[in-house]
Amino acid sequence: MDLGLAGRSCVVTGAGRGIGRATARTLCEAGAQVLLVARTGGELAEAAAEAGRAGAAANGRATHLAVDITEPDAAERIVADANDRFGSLDVLVNNAGTATWRALEEIPDEAWQASYELNVLAPMRLMRTAVPEMAARGWGRVVNVASSAGKRPSAMLGEYSVAKAAQLSLSRLYADRYAKDGVLVNAICPGLVRSELWTNEGGLLDQSRGEKDREEALASGASGRPIPRFAEVEEIASVIAFLSSDRASYVAGSAWSVDGGAVQVII
Ligand SMILES: NC(=O)c1ccc[n+]([C@@H]2O[C@H](COP(=O)([O-])OP(=O)(O)OC[C@H]3O[C@@H](n4cnc5c(N)ncnc54)[C@H](OP(=O)(O)O)[C@@H]3O)[C@@H](O)[C@H]2O)c1
Repeated sequence: MDLGLAGRSCVVTGAGRGIGRATARTLCEAGAQVLLVARTGGELAEAAAEAGRAGAAANGRATHLAVDITEPDAAERIVADANDRFGSLDVLVNNAGTATWRALEEIPDEAWQASYELNVLAPMRLMRTAVPEMAARGWGRVVNVASSAGKRPSAMLGEYSVAKAAQLSLSRLYADRYAKDGVLVNAICPGLVRSELWTNEGGLLDQSRGEKDREEALASGASGRPIPRFAEVEEIASVIAFLSSDRASYVAGSAWSVDGGAVQVII
């Protein structure tokens, strides 16, 4: 199926690792031009080179900008950079995020605030900057990468769960406002995904596994779910690419579960 992404210009935040990196690659493979954003310049340059190689056969292009999306002027800088490089911005993927495993009683105020900054204010500023320009041109796509924890809070991911729920509300608000102008805004809600967020040393796997070894913890973490395993990052990237495309022309305001069936609700 041709997604119609060839030549589309895209921004993917959090593209140095994990889901964002796989998304940049997938969009490039479909012929898109992609600006990868994260804080760590070296890793980001590698990710952009990888995406560029993956997209070469389809004329996909990748470039990168090292910026902390929680900086108050980050949205202006990112959108201006995309406009400079590509002439316009068609697709925004708000993906950057992180999480810490701890009991509700142990979450300090700063962590609640930081999670809101990263998952709500930063994507809001990016949409506030990018979406009116898309609306003026009559076509745009936004994918907000939320979490199954936004639908059903995870006991050990408190501030993250609450911020992701707010991100879902934000996504719906923008979807309702701009769908009539051709800008389709959706969220996705991944469940367990085997990205560096879990697998890096000191990451969620190490924070949560107790006495189990890493392989055992990976296997048991997802057992009992309808699809009893972690997702691969590419399985999330495929859904993001579809929602970013012409093919998703009648999808707006969704909170699309990509959780292997983990959250057992029908909306
Ligand atoms: N993995 C899962 O199980 C899972 C499940 C549900 C939802 N999600 C969501 O999926 C998204 C991606 O997660 P992931 O698992 O791919 O995480 P990851 O492997 O840790 O990658 C996160 C990316 O975000 C970037 N980032 C973090 N803070 C940033 C900031 N302030 N400014 C700019 N970039 C920033 C990181 O790069 P730098 O550190 O260099 O900035 C990195 O490139 C997140 O929103 C996460 O909440 C993940």
